[in-house]
Amino acid sequence: MNKFDLKNKVAIVTGGAQGFGLDIAKRFLKSGAKVIIWDNDEVEIKKFTKNIKNKNLSKQIVDVSDPENVDDTVKKITKTQKIDILINNAGVTGSTAELWKYDYEEWKRIIDINLNGTFNCCKAIVPHMIKNNYGRIVNIASVSGKDGNAKASAYSSSKAGVIALTKSLGKELANKNIAVNAVTPAGAKTRILNQMSKEHVKRMLSKVPRARFLKLNELSSMVCWLSSDENSFSTAAVFDISGGRSTY
Ligand SMILES: NC(=O)c1ccc[n+]([C@@H]2O[C@H](COP(=O)([O-])OP(=O)(O)OC[C@H]3O[C@@H](n4cnc5c(N)ncnc54)[C@H](O)[C@@H]3O)[C@@H](O)[C@H]2O)c1
Repeated sequence: MNKFDLKNKVAIVTGGAQGFGLDIAKRFLKSGAKVIIWDNDEVEIKKFTKNIKNKNLSKQIVDVSDPENVDDTVKKITKTQKIDILINNAGVTGSTAELWKYDYEEWKRIIDINLNGTFNCCKAIVPHMIKNNYGRIVNIASVSGKDGNAKASAYSSSKAGVIALTKSLGKELANKNIAVNAVTPAGAKTRILNQMSKEHVKRMLSKVPRARFLKLNELSSMVCWLSSDENSFSTAAVFDISGGRSTY
């Protein structure tokens, strides 16, 4: 494993109780960061508390789709410490169905977590980054936000929104030492796949020239570099990690 130096950095990883978020958190810990995990799944957070003990790791029950919850938590954290890194990773795919059959409430739930959740966390944390003239934000979008997946209009739209948010915010902050980037992974074997039909997952995989699932550590590696001091120039950009599916 190549190491990027994250010593003395404080990172928040949303949706960090499992999957991509947990792997990113572990990689950050190995790189010397202090990590705060936010997740709304109390069962997973408890499981994880039992399994991983590290003095640099803490976890909080936070629902990213609830702006007050996010705001209050940030206020408490920033009373005693800074926030250097924000990984907006919490997300859901929701069910798979054609747009005209899509449940209205389900559509709103997906946009609320994936897109509004990313907005809520950036809105609450960016002012602290501006005050410190330092920040690295990585938004976990998806290749579906570029290509649009059939039967996943809500998910694809939410991730396209995350990509556009990244570009806008990155430009707004480009005159400061704050970088805002997005990554667009292809499918990886995490719990999120259980939310979609088997047929849908098979279809997704069939579009990937590498012909396999993305490994968690492959994503964490890219996110770790984007979150480090060494990423001093790239901002408002979208980093593809879709095994050749998207070539832009
Ligand atoms: N696994 C894939 O195939 C894949 C591909 C592309 C993009 N992504 C994206 O990567 C991110 C992580 O997904 P994953 O595959 O690790 O899924 P996962 O289901 O394993 O983990 C997602 C985590 O987010 C948490 N979460 C959900 N809603 C939340 C909320 N409102 N507030 C706080 N936490 C919440 C869940 O409890 C869970 O722990 C997501 O944004 C997802 O869209 C995943």
